[in-house]
Amino acid sequence: MDLFRTKSVEQSIRDTEDPRHRLRRSLSALDLTVFGVGVIVGTGIFVLTGRVARENAGPAVVLSFVVAAVVCGLAALCYAEFASTLPVAGSAYTFSYATLGEFPAWIIGWDLMLELALAAAVVSVGWSGYVTSLLATLGIELPAAIAGESGLVNVPAVLIVLLLTAALVAGIRLSARVNLIMVAVKLSVILLVLVAGLFFINGANYSPFIPPPVSTPGVQGVSAPLIQVLFGVTPVAFGVFGVFSAAAIVFFAYIGFDIVATAAEETRNPARDLPIGILGSLGLCTLLYVAVSLVIVGMQPYDRLSEAAPLADAFRAVGAPWIASLISVGVVAGLTTVMLILMLGQSRVFFAMSRDNLLPPALAEVHPRFRTPYRVTIIIGVVTAALAGLIPLSALAELVNIGTLFAFVVVSAGVVILRRTRPDLHRAFRVPWVPVVPALSVLACLYLMLNLPVDTWLRFIAWMALGIVIYWLYGSRHSRVARPADQQAAEPPVTP
Ligand code: ALA
Repeated sequence: MDLFRTKSVEQSIRDTEDPRHRLRRSLSALDLTVFGVGVIVGTGIFVLTGRVARENAGPAVVLSFVVAAVVCGLAALCYAEFASTLPVAGSAYTFSYATLGEFPAWIIGWDLMLELALAAAVVSVGWSGYVTSLLATLGIELPAAIAGESGLVNVPAVLIVLLLTAALVAGIRLSARVNLIMVAVKLSVILLVLVAGLFFINGANYSPFIPPPVSTPGVQGVSAPLIQVLFGVTPVAFGVFGVFSAAAIVFFAYIGFDIVATAAEETRNPARDLPIGILGSLGLCTLLYVAVSLVIVGMQPYDRLSEAAPLADAFRAVGAPWIASLISVGVVAGLTTVMLILMLGQSRVFFAMSRDNLLPPALAEVHPRFRTPYRVTIIIGVVTAALAGLIPLSALAELVNIGTLFAFVVVSAGVVILRRTRPDLHRAFRVPWVPVVPALSVLACLYLMLNLPVDTWLRFIAWMALGIVIYWLYGSRHSRVARPADQQAAEPPVTP
């Protein structure tokens, strides 16, 4: 068995032209940027800001957003080069197949499930929380057993995931249009927070900007960041260490720019539009996050920020409840687009994996009318809905982060490898100062990973071990790349 057989760049691109598996090319640079912003701005800024300021960083959560943005910026440059060279569905999975080989590619594809499907489930639970609280404001009380994180089944979370699955099956144009409206609403809400919030800032809340380190129960045992355990530091929250462990958590807020790359195959002019979409949406979100977090920690003492809805509750605390309600409506809209695109990204990664026979190939079939990979979309929708409905997922944001950072490490290393193995390829976008920038990207991502808690590492390792077993049982025996070309040509066509 050759674990490191690669799939050539040419073959990856040729596969996209096979009519059995062809997706519709309809997205422009603007669509991609909107997609990016649609998936990036979400639970991270709307929910995690409060928790992280309270527990890890204080007002310095603003710095944590900057640290996470720098890490993402380095990785985004690498994603932009890859996506402009290899505009094929599947993102990091496809990149790894072309550079590192089949087994690492499978590992990444498996790992991306942590980023995409799990993140969609996490966000749907947050969405359900906001919807429940909005309904309560209108006098409609949903019983905790069917709507709370601790209830029996989280019905709103299940319903929204299934509804979005249907939209994805019906076609990407529809999704892009719905997304555009939602993104506009979300940005308006953020601007409202910025402008209205300025009037309620109390300078005293900014000091101390980096609260002194303290040892708290929240960072003991397996909840302590790995780096503090490795170096024998007594685990602490706040202080400079706190800023970095907070960065590893608010990293969640930036997840999504890489997903723009998963829509490569549906982009009209990928070489030009992908780098614009990836770097543009990341830059815009960084500005918004720094500004919003600066305003929020200025409005309330950090230890009084709410954990579930810090933006809305800060306005309630300063006596402006109507602004709080407006914000909640926007957040509900905002989180909807996040879930939509996370699930879209996941379906495209699965699509690419089954097209390569690492998963059963029948899954990659495209719908005759909608031209969408409907089978994988439906499977992912049902699994995500089950996760969202049955499991309280708030703590799993860290697991999403470690999975995503791992993918960034592999993509950054892959840029250097592809420059060596295929210097001849046309690269519409080139990372500056290779190999320095990709190397910095790898180190920065690893550093953030080390700042995640020990229990997150354990879950991550268990998930990856399961993936290895599945590859050994299925993918390694069915891989299309492993078979000779004549055998591939003799395959019976899948009726579209
Ligand atoms: N970046 C996305 C969010 O914050 C995943 O919800």
